[in-house]
Parts: sequence; structure tokens; C-alpha cells
Amino acid sequence: MARTTLVTGGAGFIGSHTCVELLRAGDEVVVLDDHSNSSPEALERVAKIAGRPIAAVHVADVRDRKALDAVFASHPIDAVIHFAAKKAVGESVRIPLAYYDINVGGTTALVSAMHAHGVHRLVFSSSCSVYGDATTVPLTEESPTAPTNPYATTKWTCERILSDLCRHVPELRVLALRYFNPAGAHPTGLLGEDPRGVPNNIMPFLTQIAVGRRDGLSVFGDDYPTPDGTGIRDYIHVVDVAEGHRTALDHIDDEPGMRVFNLGTGRGASVLELVRAFEKASGRPVPYRVTARRPGDVAELVADPAKVMAAWGWTARRDLAAICRDAWNFQQHNPYGYAS
Ligand code: NAD
Ligand code: WQD
Repeated sequence: MARTTLVTGGAGFIGSHTCVELLRAGDEVVVLDDHSNSSPEALERVAKIAGRPIAAVHVADVRDRKALDAVFASHPIDAVIHFAAKKAVGESVRIPLAYYDINVGGTTALVSAMHAHGVHRLVFSSSCSVYGDATTVPLTEESPTAPTNPYATTKWTCERILSDLCRHVPELRVLALRYFNPAGAHPTGLLGEDPRGVPNNIMPFLTQIAVGRRDGLSVFGDDYPTPDGTGIRDYIHVVDVAEGHRTALDHIDDEPGMRVFNLGTGRGASVLELVRAFEKASGRPVPYRVTARRPGDVAELVADPAKVMAAWGWTARRDLAAICRDAWNFQQHNPYGYAS
């Protein structure tokens, strides 16, 4: 029988790509999103790519318990993927309480509604930012956690709450997926990253430079203890991340309780390596200048993806060239994002 999955934040960057994978796998998909950081157009495109409709879209805040009750009352939900959250690290330093409220309060409201309606399977969007300033790479799930900003603290706090709950609610099954740096776009050019205002993350910044919306890149520091001095990250294709969620749902009943998995490639790229890969993919030069380090940035974050490979046979299949090619393809087809 087809599984019915509730996807909170399903219109967002990772959520929309995940909805495509779920629909393609035959799931019924119900989305809850307040569109505070997304366009309804993304969901139209999800259905177009998948060739199947989303069962229902509820435009609501994930903290709204009445709205959640209505969603659970009107669909036979088997599992929930919880993407809905605020994700800008810099903003979280300026307005930490909003981050605790939405990210932590949203998660507790959701889990409370799930419990009330007898739904016990949850995939939670966590982040490599819970590891903080890593002293040794690659990072395994056993590496010490030390969040360095309010955003990361919300993800770490949610993990703690969920793990604690699992001890007291034996039927609960939670998979916390710690994504490294999701980037890229759907190869159709229909779905991609469409940040509001100035992008916080490097990949949409690069694509906006190449399409002529921005002049050049500030490389935040070249004095890190890395081979070329610039920060190293584990960029993972968003379609790989989406496939990881579909695989997670297939394995959520393997064991009760809470399990944590890294979703990364295990391969790091420096800022300058990324710039070169993007120039090659786009055929456009990326003017850049080195500026000061960005406060809160760390030298190197790279996943050890062995645990998820051993558990589910899941591995990221797309490389940095594919990430750059697909991100550029989306930007070219949608120079102003979904508003194009
Ligand atoms: P996104 O902002 O594109 O998607 C989040 C979606 O949630 C948006 O559609 C937004 O409108 C919705 N939303 C936000 N607050 C809401 C609320 N209160 N009620 C209902 N809907 C709400 O972000 P994304 O990149 O797709 O990230 C998805 C999840 O993955 C987030 O939890 C984020 O913290 C986590 N994550 C993202 C990254 C990354 O680099 N993109 C890395 C690690 C973890
Ligand atoms: C990548 C690299 C920058 C912009 C963030 C969150 C993390 C996770 C993923 C949610 C770094 C450098 C960037 C620019 C630059 N998100 N850079 N110039 O900071 O690794 O991770 O997104 O969970 O929690 O912190 O991603 O894309 O901002 O930066 O030189 O204009 O690019 O210093 O080395 P980051 P990013």
C-alpha cells in the first residue's frame, strides 16, 4: 500500500526535491509550508517533474497546533519529514529567539501533534553545524558536537529533545539526518535554490554572479590551515540529499528509537576549488577578491559517510561538476528564481 508522507517545509530547497523523489517512489505526499521562505510555484513544478500531483498542500505555520491537528485528521499520515525551519546562521545571531521559537517550538509542536494522532515515524533535518569547529575531519556521527551559533544550537537541541523522547515513547522512530552543504538543483532546471535577498550561501552567490546579478565573490579568508588557505566544505547534490530521505523512510522501521546519520559525500572542496569548478561548468569567469574571514566560519567540515552506507547502502552519486552544472542550469532558466 502506498505510504502517505507529510513533508513540512516541502516547498523549500531540499523539501521540493524530496517531494519529487517521494512522488516518483509512489508515496502520497502532503505538504505543510507557510511559504515564509519559498514559493508555491515550486510545488507546481514538483508535480510537473514527477508527473503526479501532491495530495494536499496546507499553507500553515508548523507551530500552529490547530493546523497540525487538521492535517493529521484529514490524511492517514504514516511518516513525517520535518524540513520547516529557519536556516540563516547570521540571522540567527541577530534574532536568536525567533530561531528557538520556530526551529525548536516548531519541532515540539509537530511531535506533540504526531503523538496525539498516533504517528510515530519522523525524519528530522539536522545539520553538520552541530559539530561546530571540528578538530578532526572527516566527521563521524560520534564526533563531539559543539554548536557555535543559535541556528546550530536549535538543531542540536531538537536532536536532544527527540532522543530523550524516544527513551520515553517506545514506538517512536526518529532519523536525524545531518546534512553537510546541500547545493545544486534539479537536472530539469525546474527546481533549485531561490534565496530571498543577498544569498547567505556560496553556491547561489556564484550562480547570481554568473547570470549578472552580482559583481563578484568575496572569498572569506585565505589564511585557514587548508592547502590553499580557503575554507573546505562537503558539498552534496540536493538530489542526493532528496534520495537520502526516500531511503531513510524505507529503513525507518529497521530499528526503534533515534538514529543519527551524516549525509555528505566524504569529499571536501575549498572555496577556490569550487570557484574553478563553477567557472568550468558555466563557462563564465567568477571575479573574486579575498576579504576577511566571516565570523563564525570554520576551516573544514567534511563528512565521514560510512555509517549511512553500511546501514542502507546509500551514497552520494553526484560530483562537484554535476552540482555546479545543475545549479547553473537552474539559474539560467530562472534568472530571478521562481519569480522569473
Ligand atoms: P528552505 O528555507 O528552502 O526550506 C524551508 C521551508 O520551510 C521553506 O519552504 C519555508 O517556507 C518553510 N518554513 C519555514 N518556517 C516555517 C514555519 N514556521 N512553518 C511552516 N513552514 C515553514 O531551507 P532548506 O535549505 O530546504 O532546508 C530545509 C531544512 O534543512 C531546514 O530545516 C534546514 O535547517 C536544514 N538544513 C539545510 C541545509 C542547507 O544548507 N540548505 C543544511 C543543513 C540542514
Ligand atoms: C561555504 C564556504 C565560506 C559565501 C552553512 C551553514 C550550515 C549549513 C550549510 C544549514 C565557507 C565560503 C561563502 C561567500 C565565501 N546549513 N564563502 N564567500 O557556512 O559552510 O554552511 O550552510 O544547516 O549550517 O552554516 O556554507 O555556503 O555559507 O559557505 O567565501 O560569499 O564558502 O566561508 O568556507 P557554510 P556557505
